[in-house]
Amino acid sequence: MSVKIATLFPEMFPGHLGLSLAGKALEKGIWSLETINPRYYATDLHKTVDDAPFGGGAGMVMKADILSNALEAHQPLGRFIYMTPRGKPLTQALAQELAKEPMLTVLCGRYEGVDERLLEAYNAEEVSLGDYVLSGGEQAAMIMLDAIIRLLPEVIGNANTHAEESFHNGLLEYPHYTRPADWVSPDGQLRRIPDVLASGHHAKVREWRLAQSETVTAARRPDLWEKYKKTK
Ligand code: ADE
Repeated sequence: MSVKIATLFPEMFPGHLGLSLAGKALEKGIWSLETINPRYYATDLHKTVDDAPFGGGAGMVMKADILSNALEAHQPLGRFIYMTPRGKPLTQALAQELAKEPMLTVLCGRYEGVDERLLEAYNAEEVSLGDYVLSGGEQAAMIMLDAIIRLLPEVIGNANTHAEESFHNGLLEYPHYTRPADWVSPDGQLRRIPDVLASGHHAKVREWRLAQSETVTAARRPDLWEKYKKTK
């Protein structure tokens, strides 16, 4: 997958995407990263990339003409995404869909955002991480890309790794335990693992895990639970 990032802060990349799972995949060429710095395409002496909003108000707006020059110099863009709290929420389903794309370009906004006409002209798909405001789209892009890259077929060899994790079947994941089977926590309490997990009875383990997933989803995420019940 080839990824292009339009950002005023190219030095933020690859950031954590250069480490661990994503970093190894980057080294292996499973995905590639190219940054596009709009400032390079500014036409005036001061390298202006933003301007005051028409109609007044606080903050600055990234200029459509300069951003467009930057994007045109890096065609093709593939699927074009703009990170913004106004976008549709990033979900595991969207990450799975985006992981199938051969090319993505992610535009990261700063200041108050981007001139709306640029988003219209490039048919930007607007994506949000959630109902809170970050200081820029870069961190949001990195998190979205992390969710996408770990799903690329060559990144985690074992497809079952994803089949069991949260959201795959519309439920949160069941709890995990490892050795020692008996552990005394600092408050003096003996904490044993659930017996079924050491029983060697695979069907019973599966049943227990599903029941746990259902319980935790119903308790913590009534929204997911309602959807799950409808599809069952
Ligand atoms: N930029 C600033 N806040 C954001 C958010 N919540 N999601 C995506 N992009 C953003």
